[in-house]
Amino acid sequence: MPINPQDINHNDAADSTENPTIQAIEKVARSDRSFDAIADHFEKKVYGGLKGDIRLAVLRRDIFDYSKQLSQTLGRPLRILDVGAGLAQIAIELATQGHTLVINDISANMLEKAKASAMQCGELFESKGKLDITWYVCPYQELEKNLAEQTEKFDLIMCHALFEWLAEPAKVMDFFDQQLSDNGAISLCFYNPASFDYRNLIMGNFNLLDNTDYKADNKKSLTPNHPVAKEEVESWLEVHHYHTVLASGLRVFHDYSPLKRGGHNDPEAVIRMELRYSQLEPYKWLGRYLHILATRKN
Ligand SMILES: C[S@@+](CC[C@H](N)C(=O)[O-])C[C@H]1O[C@@H](n2cnc3c(N)ncnc32)[C@H](O)[C@@H]1O
Repeated sequence: MPINPQDINHNDAADSTENPTIQAIEKVARSDRSFDAIADHFEKKVYGGLKGDIRLAVLRRDIFDYSKQLSQTLGRPLRILDVGAGLAQIAIELATQGHTLVINDISANMLEKAKASAMQCGELFESKGKLDITWYVCPYQELEKNLAEQTEKFDLIMCHALFEWLAEPAKVMDFFDQQLSDNGAISLCFYNPASFDYRNLIMGNFNLLDNTDYKADNKKSLTPNHPVAKEEVESWLEVHHYHTVLASGLRVFHDYSPLKRGGHNDPEAVIRMELRYSQLEPYKWLGRYLHILATRKN
């Protein structure tokens, strides 16, 4: 019977370090993480408040500026793919701007939610015509065969908060190589493992930092156990011949402030400051997530 990594009690971290069999099982059993069972929890926890608003504000600014420019240069709407799209907020907004979207997730529940918001947006934007969105519920690894009939490649591929939930994240880069047009861009947003350390330093959770085998209980926790460091992503970009156009930090101070005083009580001011510091060295590298927009080196 296959062993599900979710069934392994990661709270028994000490056992797993001392027991090579458990270590081996964890390695073999690691698989991509569908959010089917936690779709409601994800929606509420990640996007139900200011944290989600900051995340979307930074992504909107980075992506919409770029897509507008590229669309003007090409003189047409863009073909855009969102893999592991979840609730697909940014993708749906891009569709309301007239672009052609392909939206994918392994989880049917997540895409049901996304479809419901696309329907609402479609009604709001009725005067501009129907949104051009094709939905694929499948692992992104199966998209290639589903997309086989479509000869045109994508101008923009978004991959947000997916790396850290994949068994073999580096392989997505091969998929991008296949699916991205020569002038296209990839938008990569990923959990920043440095932010885990920094936040726990601030919160005084030294025991957690001393425990090198700490694993969050992913039955509910949305802290990924397999984050990919910025340096690793940069090395993939180098190997696959991409050039970084911009890099931003998402939530560079909001999550670190235990004391909500002064400007912290004004959500609009927090978003304004997060937008400003998301682009500034050295603060941006402390973002809970990082966003990198990269194009192919020609
Ligand atoms: C943390 S959520 C991110 C959702 C969205 N991109 C965002 O930034 O809000 C990760 C998503 O990846 C999906 N996922 C996991 N493995 C996948 C795979 N192999 N192919 C496609 N989607 C996958 C999950 O079901 C989940 O909806």
